[in-house]
Amino acid sequence: MTPAIPTRGIVLTLFVWCALTAAKSHISEPPYIEPAFTTVPRTSPAGAPLFETETIQLTDSVLRKLKTTPSTAKYAQQFIFDNDKPPNSTRRKGFCKTYPGDHDWPSNPTWDVFDNLLGRGALIPTVPIAAPCYDSKWGPKNEVKCGDVTARFNTPYLHEGDPTSIMFPIYQGRTCMPGNPTVDCTLGGFPQFVVNATTVAQVQLALNFARNNNLRLVVKNTGHDYLGKSTGAGALSIWTNNNKQIEFLLNYQGDGYAGPAMKVGAGVTVREVYAAAEKNGVSALGGISPSVGFSGGYFAGGGHTPLSGLYGMAADHIMAINLVTASGHFMTASARSNPDLYWALRGGGGGTYGVVTSVVVRVHPKVPVTVAKFSFETSQNVSDEAFWLAVRKYYELHIPFTNAGTYSFYFIFNRKETTNGELRFQMQPFFAPNHTIESYNALTKPLFDTLKSLSIPVTFTKNVTYYGSYYPAYMDSWGNNMFPVGTVKTMAGNRILPRGHFQDAAKLNATLEVLKQHVDNGFHLGGYHQAPRNRANVDNAVSTAWREAVSFLIFGSRPVPDNGTVADMQTATDELIDEILKPWKDLAPPSQYGGSYLNEAAVMEPGWQHSFYGLKYEKMLEIKQRWDPRGLFYGPTAVGSEEWEVRDGDRGVQTQDGRLCHV
Ligand SMILES: Cc1cc2nc3c(=O)[nH]c(=O)nc-3n(C[C@H](O)[C@H](O)[C@H](O)COP(=O)(O)OP(=O)(O)OC[C@H]3O[C@@H](n4cnc5c(N)ncnc54)[C@H](O)[C@@H]3O)c2cc1C
Ligand SMILES: *[C@@H]1O[C@H](CO)[C@@H](O)[C@H](O)[C@H]1NC(C)=O
Ligand SMILES: *[C@@H]1O[C@H](CO)[C@@H](O)[C@H](O)[C@H]1NC(C)=O
Ligand SMILES: *[C@@H]1O[C@H](CO)[C@@H](O)[C@H](O)[C@H]1NC(C)=O
Ligand SMILES: *[C@@H]1O[C@H](CO)[C@@H](O)[C@H](O)[C@H]1NC(C)=O
Ligand SMILES: *[C@@H]1O[C@H](CO)[C@@H](O)[C@H](O)[C@H]1NC(C)=O
Ligand SMILES: *[C@@H]1O[C@H](CO)[C@@H](O)[C@H](O)[C@H]1NC(C)=O
Ligand SMILES: *[C@@H]1O[C@H](CO)[C@@H](O)[C@H](O)[C@H]1NC(C)=O
Repeated sequence: MTPAIPTRGIVLTLFVWCALTAAKSHISEPPYIEPAFTTVPRTSPAGAPLFETETIQLTDSVLRKLKTTPSTAKYAQQFIFDNDKPPNSTRRKGFCKTYPGDHDWPSNPTWDVFDNLLGRGALIPTVPIAAPCYDSKWGPKNEVKCGDVTARFNTPYLHEGDPTSIMFPIYQGRTCMPGNPTVDCTLGGFPQFVVNATTVAQVQLALNFARNNNLRLVVKNTGHDYLGKSTGAGALSIWTNNNKQIEFLLNYQGDGYAGPAMKVGAGVTVREVYAAAEKNGVSALGGISPSVGFSGGYFAGGGHTPLSGLYGMAADHIMAINLVTASGHFMTASARSNPDLYWALRGGGGGTYGVVTSVVVRVHPKVPVTVAKFSFETSQNVSDEAFWLAVRKYYELHIPFTNAGTYSFYFIFNRKETTNGELRFQMQPFFAPNHTIESYNALTKPLFDTLKSLSIPVTFTKNVTYYGSYYPAYMDSWGNNMFPVGTVKTMAGNRILPRGHFQDAAKLNATLEVLKQHVDNGFHLGGYHQAPRNRANVDNAVSTAWREAVSFLIFGSRPVPDNGTVADMQTATDELIDEILKPWKDLAPPSQYGGSYLNEAAVMEPGWQHSFYGLKYEKMLEIKQRWDPRGLFYGPTAVGSEEWEVRDGDRGVQTQDGRLCHV
């Protein structure tokens, strides 16, 4: 998350934006065409039966029927699986994906047939979420609905429950913003149509239709992505968020593993995974924000977790992945089935190799956790020097703290950020899985001894507390926080720092110098101590930087108001890349196992290939080209995306509001 000052929030219930039903009516009425699918057996190489929605598939025999049925015959060719066209016809210089208004953009009757084949109503024409705030082609202004969207625009669940909305509106081009209306409300960088996909057949039809018509394709689950990977102008989007199935597998038999696991649908959030694990007497790995999608971008990017000190990255525990690949075929990726794809899908980034419909993830025994929240700051009695000596001690302790399997989340606020104009260190919380209060106290004693010897008063906002299992510890630490999203305000960037920089006195000094300079320059930061290493001893695409990490730092750009100009945005981008991130990158370049987590990164990062993907980028690219030879899947900074560009004009940051073309 971006280091905005965390606000306590309440858990909101899921909500579906119902104005869409009205918007669907432009899709014309009969002739009735049957949905295109057949039902296949539930057996699967994933080692767990298919979900019922996964048994509903598109097959060659369904396609043959489309060809021989008069009402669909003339459209059938648009839904076929990949054939033997020269594979690179869409990957040549200057080739652009078909855009609304182009002569070869599918006709309205074609979209109608598509909707019928999906099952009527599954194809949704995009209505920007804040359309009720405007008189627009979607209807007159509606104060009540606008008020509702405006009031909840900073809550993740509003965007998650909408077919196309995303949580960081910079990337849709800041069109149709609520609260502070722009001149008009347009589609901007939102996709043209979205498939509300709940069956494999719907995903297959959408992929085939997009590929055969050279349409840009987007995959959206919750819309959490910080870089704009889940939106795109002129695109057909696949919305996976309604796949909420979770199945507990008490005795899963996988490659090299036998024991409890969970099968998790594409739309399940991390909090839903945690709750299901707790209910079944186990613990699962997930991130800190409750609303992040588990089987979408989270595990695909690697997935760091408060339990990383015991088990490593979430991706390391994925045993099998069911997905539809660029050719339109449904398959399983596991150690035995399509192992190259299995390797790349675990850490190589979301929306790149296929559309995941479910994953099987290994789970772990219930584990007790000890948690505390505390802070200290400068004052008339605490000098800056004493403050930095205390922070230095905490950094020196990163090695023993991570060796003991613990994780943390903290902020360092500069003078501009605190109400009293002091420097503040805020631990929010120190999270110690598999620790008792006694072992936590012994572990952290050197830190508190140092604070005492420096006469720095410490305020506890949560006393040291022991929990019998992960779920209540997580809920008290993060699960009830809302993690505000939805405004332009600030762009994220981050750095992963390796163990070597905390073991070597000169490098640690250099690290602290960069930290102090960063704060002196008036920026704050959010940080974590954590060391996922490769605790599960697996080989996958998780960045090599994560294997060496003991520190993960998140930064935010200077806030840009919703109505900020292109120049404001450019200033914020340049400052983020050149002034905030660069000193850290110079300190710990990818060649020394420094890096940046692709899921919470700056979209304008230069040399993102090695910063985000580590030293194995070339292998990922080779697998990408093998499984997606036409470049159907595109996302900014996704593997292989250097071949493409979004022509959005000059925005001060790369948005998705423009035509996608091959460079
Ligand atoms: C407040 C906040 C806190 C966070 N905390 C953590 C944390 O603690 N640990 C951590 O590791 N990360 C964290 N993240 C980052 C998070 O993991 C990423 O934003 C992740 O990409 C979100 O995935 P999603 O599916 O929810 O989002 P989306 O924006 O819907 O999708 C993200 C990407 O995955 C692709 N995708 C989605 N569904 C599928 C699918 N079924 N098949 C193929 N591709 C798909 C999309 O195309 C896109 O490229 C946090 C993010 C935020 C905003
Ligand atoms: C999406 O599909 C699901 C399952 O069919 C349905 O319950 C939901 O209402 C649909 N959502 C929208 C916005 O159409
Ligand atoms: C500083 O220390 C003095 C003496 O111990 C105390 O009275 C005062 O409250 C302290 N001030 C702050 C800001 O902590
Ligand atoms: C938790 O601690 C116990 C006792 O110290 C140890 O035996 C066990 O292996 C630890 N569990 C994990 C998952 O590290
Ligand atoms: C922590 O414990 C002390 C002593 O029992 C108590 O006075 C204080 O209110 C507690 N703090 C919090 C944040 O619960
Ligand atoms: C690191 O900094 C400390 C404190 O300023 C200093 O005492 C020490 O000599 C430095 N070590 C190295 C190797 O530069
Ligand atoms: C942006 O909005 C603010 C608050 O409504 C207003 O004061 C400011 O003038 C606006 N700036 C621009 C560039 O429109
Ligand atoms: C086609 O793609 C392959 C695999 O990515 C690549 O090796 C080859 O150079 C490409 N050919 C052309 C003409 O672009």
